[in-house]
Amino acid sequence: MPVFLNGKPQELTPGERLIDTINRSGIRIPQVCYHPQLGPIQTCDTCMVEVNGKLERACATTAAEGLRVETASSRAQAAQREAFDRILGNHLLYCTVCDNNNGNCTVHNTTRLLAIEHQDTPFQAKPYEVDSTNPFYRYDPQQCILCGRCVEACQNLQVNETLSINWEDPHPRVLWDGGAPIGESSCVSCGHCVTVCPCNALMEKSMLGQAGYFTSLPQQTLDGMIDVVKGVEPEIGYGSIMQLSEVEASMRESQIKRTKTVCTYCGVGCSFQIWTKDRHILKVEPAAGPANGVSTCIKGKFGWDFVNSSDRLTKPLIRERDRFREATWDEALGLVASRFSEIKTAHGPDALAFISSSKCTNEESYLMQKLARAVIGTNNMDNCSRYCQAPATIGLFRTVGYGGDSGSISDIEQASLVLIIGSNTAESHPVLATRVKRAHKLRGQKLIVSDLREHEMARRADVFLHPRPGTDLFWLSAVTRYIFDHGLAKQSFIDRWVNKADEYRKSLEPFTLEMASVRCGLSKETLVKVAHMIAEADSVCILWAMGVTQHVMGSDTSTAISNLLLATGNYMRPGTGAYPLRGHNNVQGASDHGAMPNYFPGYQKIDDPAIRSKFEKAWGVALPPKPGLDNHLMIDAIHDGRIKSMYVFGEEMSLVDSNAGYVAAALEKLDFFVMQEIFFSETCRFANVILPASPSLEKEGTFTSTERRIQRLYQVMEPLGNSRPDWKILMNVANRLGANWTYVHPSEVYEEISSLTPIMAGVTYERLEGFKSLQWPVAPEGSDQPLLYTKQFNTPDGKAAFFPVAWSEPSNQPGTEYDLHLNNGRLLEHFHEGNMTYRTEGIRQKVPGTFVEVSPELAAARGIETGTWVRLSSPFGEVKVQAVVTARVTGSELYMPMNSVLEPVNCLTSSCTDKVTHTPAYKETSVRLAVLRQAGADPLPRTNPRHGRPTPQMGVEVERKWARGDYRPPDNRLVQIQTRSPQPAGQEK
Ligand code: SF4
Ligand code: SF4
Ligand code: SF4
Ligand code: FES
Repeated sequence: MPVFLNGKPQELTPGERLIDTINRSGIRIPQVCYHPQLGPIQTCDTCMVEVNGKLERACATTAAEGLRVETASSRAQAAQREAFDRILGNHLLYCTVCDNNNGNCTVHNTTRLLAIEHQDTPFQAKPYEVDSTNPFYRYDPQQCILCGRCVEACQNLQVNETLSINWEDPHPRVLWDGGAPIGESSCVSCGHCVTVCPCNALMEKSMLGQAGYFTSLPQQTLDGMIDVVKGVEPEIGYGSIMQLSEVEASMRESQIKRTKTVCTYCGVGCSFQIWTKDRHILKVEPAAGPANGVSTCIKGKFGWDFVNSSDRLTKPLIRERDRFREATWDEALGLVASRFSEIKTAHGPDALAFISSSKCTNEESYLMQKLARAVIGTNNMDNCSRYCQAPATIGLFRTVGYGGDSGSISDIEQASLVLIIGSNTAESHPVLATRVKRAHKLRGQKLIVSDLREHEMARRADVFLHPRPGTDLFWLSAVTRYIFDHGLAKQSFIDRWVNKADEYRKSLEPFTLEMASVRCGLSKETLVKVAHMIAEADSVCILWAMGVTQHVMGSDTSTAISNLLLATGNYMRPGTGAYPLRGHNNVQGASDHGAMPNYFPGYQKIDDPAIRSKFEKAWGVALPPKPGLDNHLMIDAIHDGRIKSMYVFGEEMSLVDSNAGYVAAALEKLDFFVMQEIFFSETCRFANVILPASPSLEKEGTFTSTERRIQRLYQVMEPLGNSRPDWKILMNVANRLGANWTYVHPSEVYEEISSLTPIMAGVTYERLEGFKSLQWPVAPEGSDQPLLYTKQFNTPDGKAAFFPVAWSEPSNQPGTEYDLHLNNGRLLEHFHEGNMTYRTEGIRQKVPGTFVEVSPELAAARGIETGTWVRLSSPFGEVKVQAVVTARVTGSELYMPMNSVLEPVNCLTSSCTDKVTHTPAYKETSVRLAVLRQAGADPLPRTNPRHGRPTPQMGVEVERKWARGDYRPPDNRLVQIQTRSPQPAGQEK
């Protein structure tokens, strides 16, 4: 039976909210505090409808069969109007001169919907000043309607737990950390609150004075205009005033451009609209992103100033001895082509090497590998997944067949248990982490974290394991053995789906709990508890990142993770699987599209004659049959003279590769080095030619996120100066070398990719239009696979396989000379070395530079305080940094973030690598520490959110509002009486 809306039947989806049923029917009712992604907050009371004769909030009512709902009865309408009238008592309607007057202001639109002409509840100013202490947004309490959307978003979606409303106060307002200035609170500037605010109470500073035709007028003039409007309102009513503001809002459409794009920072794949006025970025507006909805982190929401930075490269540069001079494109491209040709003729094609960017588009990686293979004739082709994710890919290839996340972020959210290993998820993949934090807080999802540092996810975990550095493989294997030994393995799944079980079980013999306890420094009881939690959970997702992969056993530990999932039957179902969290926005896509030494696009093997012949036919050339060098081996090959020339785009290779001194020495030896960049990076210093490229906002293409999700980005603005999109530059270079490529748009490149790549066969730009996306593999007719393994695994017989792994010791362990272990990783605010994020002033204010975290114990032993300058030395180099004394690290373990160009942590890391993939063992570094001087302020300024004190609570806590003496639900009886005097405490309708 349907639900009856104003007498008409309306089909419903079981369990849906009545407000969603009503919205779907096309009937329009007010709903100021409701946001589908936040759920019912119930603070505004504007959605009152009659349900079977009783006034109810539509947002908080579950649609049930047979309900008789009146949305426009006189009683319902009166209640809606009264509720909204109270809201107007908290908000001055000055729409025409408001930066939020862009057609999407909920307060404005509700005034129009209800055809409000006059308000009964007079506006009452709150006794608070505007708070502008956050660099990116400001809060105006006068305009705050106390809907609580921001609080709900901060507490229960972002789960940073900064915001609350002091409902018991005579003048409630939104509070940061219970009453701190925003800029000194725990606010991480994720922007959730600003995005969901239904009016202008929370606004991006980049909008202020910029969005409207009148909004840039001086405040005094604006105040005068507002007074005039308020003066005439009693006479002419809101209708005419609103019409005027709507004319102004529609005029804005001609100057404000809204373009869909995809975040250029991490691998979560957040997408949003970006609002611009010429080159000025007004704001980032997330709403419908398939990975993120309304969510962003500080970088995606506010970290875009680099695009208009005054030091963007806008002209080609050519080295002349020790300096660079500007050149024309013609000259620069001519030089690149002639030197590449000369070197190829003199030394053969394998004397050249190519590195593609994991920040650039899929189409650009495809063209780079085509340039290397089809135009130059070498497979010396790689991308920076070598530095981070290649071991995870191997672990999955060995066991289940595809080198990608086995499900989606929504699977992680719905899992019964999430195990995070070696990933500072809340800082490195912030929006993905919000889904885990939310499920843990609201739904009781279990969380186990294994890490060296007690970062946010570790603090929130039900079980936090702190193993000895580099020993995850051991405890994972011991837990798996325990699960087998105690009959906890999912035998029916193994029998049906997993090969090599006997061989694998035998390989687990050395991995006893006793040995794990000794090797890893974890108690047996804890490991038993973890084994039972994993084995008994309905569904388990394991997330891991560079804390696992950047070890000499990175591939084997990744394999051990997949083995554990297979043993417990945690594949092939929603809410299960393996999730190596990809770091850069398109590191997945760069590998997927062939920027690797041994694979064509779609992981098709270079040394398979049939595949090679397919590409030879399509490209019209003979292709080199032998896999090329990866980027680690390229550096060795430069040192021993085999590689003479290199072409790198969008990679800060001299800082992000390990043992930076060794890499720099190699780059200096090159005969000819081409860099393609948006800034004059550290690596550019070694170049002979620098080609100025365009960042993501200045071009079209696609990115592939960690969940294998392919999304389109649209061009927001023209390339700056004489810079060009990378795909055009690559085409220019190829054509100078005689290639005759004729692509006029990246969509044509993708047509070629789809035609040659089975897992991308059905990917087209039309299917990716707007916010649509596809998760590979994509069948020719366009169906994709959010969950990877539903019918079988990606192996010849469709079955997975256990893959035995053995233990070996980590490299570079602390000894007498280098006595401290140095860990390293990302920070929330900066991306990697910070080439883009340091160019956002607000981010620079929050985190001005790098530092080293020192445990309280070590600090006490060495006389170190926060701010003390120390020198860290390893056999490979040294850095001078300030200390931050924190219990996030313990004992003799240090942590240094990567965010420095001046004192890069990779001066200290070694050239040891994972034996299978050559991924550097960045996380296996030992140093000695010398105290230099006791001086300097805290390298994390007072305004850094790590100094804040969050105020966790369960959302907006509307019950506290309802408990106020002056609160009463809206009701037509009261509206008819027009009573405005405060009601006695406890009076109900
Ligand atoms: S952390 Fe800050 S920006 Fe994010 S929702 Fe909370 S208050 Fe808003
Ligand atoms: S600041 Fe928060 S409570 Fe105030 S109107 Fe905006 S979302 Fe609602
Ligand atoms: S950096 Fe990552 S989490 Fe942050 S907005 Fe971009 S894609 Fe999303
Ligand atoms: S929309 Fe239902 S109470 Fe606000």
